[in-house]
Amino acid sequence: MNEHHAANKKRWNLAAPQYAEKHDKKGTWRIAHQQPEVVFLERELELMGPVCNRDVCVLGSGDNVAVFALAGMGARVTSVDIAGEQLKVARQRSTELGLSVHYVEADVTNLCGLASAAFDLVYTGGHVAVWVSDLRAYYREAIRILRPGGLLLINEYHPFRRIWKDQKTALEVGYSYFDNGPHQYNTSAELLPDRSSGDAVQYEFHWTVSQYLNAVIEQGVELVEFEELGDAAEGWEYAPLAGLPQMLMIAGRKRP
Ligand SMILES: C[S@@+](CC[C@H](N)C(=O)[O-])C[C@H]1O[C@@H](n2cnc3c(N)ncnc32)[C@H](O)[C@@H]1O
Repeated sequence: MNEHHAANKKRWNLAAPQYAEKHDKKGTWRIAHQQPEVVFLERELELMGPVCNRDVCVLGSGDNVAVFALAGMGARVTSVDIAGEQLKVARQRSTELGLSVHYVEADVTNLCGLASAAFDLVYTGGHVAVWVSDLRAYYREAIRILRPGGLLLINEYHPFRRIWKDQKTALEVGYSYFDNGPHQYNTSAELLPDRSSGDAVQYEFHWTVSQYLNAVIEQGVELVEFEELGDAAEGWEYAPLAGLPQMLMIAGRKRP
C-alpha cells in the first residue's frame, strides 16, 4: 500500500466513530434494506436490473448503505473498504438488520483477495475516487472481478465541485481543474483532538471527467451510460455550488 493510501486508511479508521454517529443521526442505514430508493437513483436501479441471487461487490463501502440496500434486494453482497473500523461498524449494523454480508478489508487498487470474474455487478462511488491515487488501477481491478457481461456502475461526486475555495460568499477557484494532487490536509484537530497518536493527514486526488471516462473505457468495457446529474447544493458543502453538476455516473459492461 502506498503512503497516501496508508494515511487515508488511518484517517478513515480514526473517523469511524464520528462517521457512525453522523449516520446514526441520519438513520438511512436502518431503512436502506427495505427502501433501496432512499439510497439509489431510479436510473441506477434501472441499470442494475434485478439483483436477487446475483453476486454484487461494493467498493469503498463506507457507510455501507448501498451494501444494505443491495442485500435487502436479495443480492449476495461483498463489501470492500480499506478501513477495518468502518467495516466493524457495518458488520454490527448488518447483524442488527439480519443481513448477511461478506466484508473484505482491502485497497480498491489491489483486490488480490477477490477472484477474477466473480461478480455480476460492481457498484462504487459517492466520494471514493477522491481517496485513490491510481484511478486506472482502481477500475482495472473493478472490471477484473466482474464476470463477462457484468456491469460496473460508478456514481461519483462531480469533479467540478472539487476545485473551489472553502468560502460561502462567492465561487473562487482554489485548484486548477487539471491539478490531480495529491492535495494534503491535516485533519488532526478534527480526528485527534488530544494528539495522542501523532498526526492525521489525508491525501485527496481530483480526477477530471475525461480521466474518469478514459480509466473505464481503456479497460475495454462497453460504455452503457455516461451522465451528469443533479445541480442542488449539498448541506455539507462550504462553497455555494448550486447550479454545478452534482454527480458523474458511468456504467460499463464487461465484454463477453
Ligand atoms: C466518504 S466514504 C464514501 C463511501 C460511501 N459512499 C459513503 O458515503 O459512506 C469513503 C470511503 O472510502 C474508503 N476508502 C478510501 N480509500 C480507499 C481505498 N484505497 N480502498 C478502499 N476503500 C477506500 C474509506 O475508508 C471510506 O470508508
